[in-house]
Amino acid sequence: MAIQIDILTLFPEMFQGPLQNSIVGRARNAGIARVNIWNIRDFADDKHRVVDDTPYGGGAGMVMKADVLARCIEHVRLSNKGPVVFLTPQGNTFSQNVADRLRQCSQLILLCGHYEGIDERIRESMVDMEISIGDYVLTGGELPAMVVTDAVVRLIPGALGREESAADDSFSHGLLEYPHYTRPRDFRGMEVPEILLSGHHGRIRRWRLKRAVQRTARRRPDLLREGSFCGEIKEIVEELTDDDQEKGG
Ligand code: ADE
Repeated sequence: MAIQIDILTLFPEMFQGPLQNSIVGRARNAGIARVNIWNIRDFADDKHRVVDDTPYGGGAGMVMKADVLARCIEHVRLSNKGPVVFLTPQGNTFSQNVADRLRQCSQLILLCGHYEGIDERIRESMVDMEISIGDYVLTGGELPAMVVTDAVVRLIPGALGREESAADDSFSHGLLEYPHYTRPRDFRGMEVPEILLSGHHGRIRRWRLKRAVQRTARRRPDLLREGSFCGEIKEIVEELTDDDQEKGG
């Protein structure tokens, strides 16, 4: 299952590096992800290519014009029937769950705002969903659109190599990830935990699960309180001692 993401922005050059390299770049080259960048300014209809104007009612800042945005969205809509997602600090907070839901749409349109924002009538009539990547204000929706694209594309089957499975990611079971080690076995006197050298896959799995639960308890107890766990994870959560929570690291 591939995905098509169309990104609408006033700053297309910003997307050059991040979406051409690493996993997203590879997924695009492999045809698993099609990412198209559109310059909103190309949809301005006057000779100065004006995309923003002063707000009715006065006040500081400029507002992105409804007519220009509408033309851009309607054009992109011809080849993309997915939801229009507006990146804004006023949106619902992005999370692994939201990334997973978006991944299931085979098409997405990401709208990046700039200046003071966009004309409210576009929000009301053309935007399906608003997403914030956190409680802070960036200069525009471009970095958030890259964050959302990266988080969604890496979940598309085939985007990650076999050695980079998403199954053990932090948050994928409602837990933070367990700690990782590689060679050398002794790094400045710090030894790799013995169990990882034992070759007992079942015991290693259980140890990793336990470390993930301990780490979550220590760093993000909210995830344990709010999550619903079953099977082995539930068992480990129930067995957590105060001591485990101290050593969770
Ligand atoms: N635009 C500006 N700040 C943002 C944020 N935190 N999340 C999404 N879009 C934004």
